[in-house]
Amino acid sequence: MSYFEINGGKKLKGVIEVKGAKNAALKAVAAALLSCEKWTLSNLPQIEDVKRILEMVGDLGVEVKQKEGTKEWTNKVEIQARSIQKTELSKKLAGKLRASIILAGPVLARKGKVSMPYPGGCVIGKRPIDLFLDGFQKMGARVVWKDDYFSLSARKLRGAKIFFPRITVTGTEAMMITAVLAEGETILENAAMEPEIPVLAKFLNQCGAKIQGAGTPTIKIKGVKKIKGGQMKIIPDRIETGTFVILGALCGGRIKIKNCCPDHIRALLENIQKAGVKIKEGKDELVVWGAKKIKPINLTTHEYPGFATDLQPPFTLLMTQAQGITQIHDPIFEGRLLFTDSLNSMGANIVLNDPHRATVYGPTKLRGRKIASPDLRAGITLLLAGLIAEGKTIIENIYQIDRGYERIEERLRKLGADIKRIEK
Ligand code: EPZ
Repeated sequence: MSYFEINGGKKLKGVIEVKGAKNAALKAVAAALLSCEKWTLSNLPQIEDVKRILEMVGDLGVEVKQKEGTKEWTNKVEIQARSIQKTELSKKLAGKLRASIILAGPVLARKGKVSMPYPGGCVIGKRPIDLFLDGFQKMGARVVWKDDYFSLSARKLRGAKIFFPRITVTGTEAMMITAVLAEGETILENAAMEPEIPVLAKFLNQCGAKIQGAGTPTIKIKGVKKIKGGQMKIIPDRIETGTFVILGALCGGRIKIKNCCPDHIRALLENIQKAGVKIKEGKDELVVWGAKKIKPINLTTHEYPGFATDLQPPFTLLMTQAQGITQIHDPIFEGRLLFTDSLNSMGANIVLNDPHRATVYGPTKLRGRKIASPDLRAGITLLLAGLIAEGKTIIENIYQIDRGYERIEERLRKLGADIKRIEK
């Protein structure tokens, strides 16, 4: 198994570009299945999760062209679901990513049936799928659990009123996508407002969908018969942007983050500046200076536009370097603070009060260690920890980092980091 070897303590400086948003790309690939015509997606991040979802779509018999005439992987992909030949989602691939569930709706809408296994993905809590099943049922689907698969069928999906008892990002996107081809009007209430949602809705509307209100808690979708083809550019990844801001605060020098959307990480920018980190903001770039003295800032994560749960792990790491005590509260997933154990093994002093609450006692000196990446966002956090730790850090299970960050070691090396991938 490959691993990263990091020699910590280097001051980083220079320019780093943000890649396309993983969580926008995955949903755009799924939405492409609504149309018989060609969708061209550009600025796709070249990461494992995107590869997996494209493999899943290919496995359904949909045409996926990665580069003119070749199978080579680039950041531009053409998807044409002239027909969908299979209605069973691959169990092996679905086990690797939670977002695989997003494919169920368009297949059900186009074919009248779909079989899907329980999706896998990051081990950050229970991650139930009840809100998806409820939504599909409200739209007229029959759901049967048989032989390790959910079998969903509906001769015709119809519009429905769906209130989400919990705000769910992929659930909102799944219902919005599925409702596009349903008969009549669907109203989603208490919907998620993450920036990827209005961007996808806008593009779907350009292709003939009738979606109103995406980006607010109430989304109305009037079903249409046909979705046309088109070209969509994936927006910059806001989690990668935020991770690089924290990287700059921990390891800069001066780091310029290009091709980003500062408004999408407003909650982080507010908090981190209060912590004493100097940031200069441009229209699509940010400059971050390494912080000499970090103030403790208590944090509670929240759905967008609140502080993203995906940025909690690197922020918690930042707080290990703060002068004082920080309370971290992450109510969204119950496993999101488990990685603090690994930080403690490197010298941090974090007390887990319950699955959702931690107290961070700073500042602490971190020492290099051999650790395994438990999930995507914890994985990148341990990598950042390695960059500020004294001595050598080995990070194993780096598939979990490659799932969401494109060739991260090459990009960090350009900033002056001493990190290499050892292939085994
Ligand atoms: C999305 O996950 C992201 N993944 C996650 O990023 C992100 O952490 C999360 O949103 C929160 O922002 C993708 O977009 C692929 P949820 P998602 O449904 O949609 C509960 C990453 O690293 N819930 O908004 O799966 C759930 O347990 C990933 O990029 C139910 O109870 O999250 C959680 O407590 C990790 N029943 C809450 O809702 C359901 O049927 C919010 O989850 C669905 C969700």
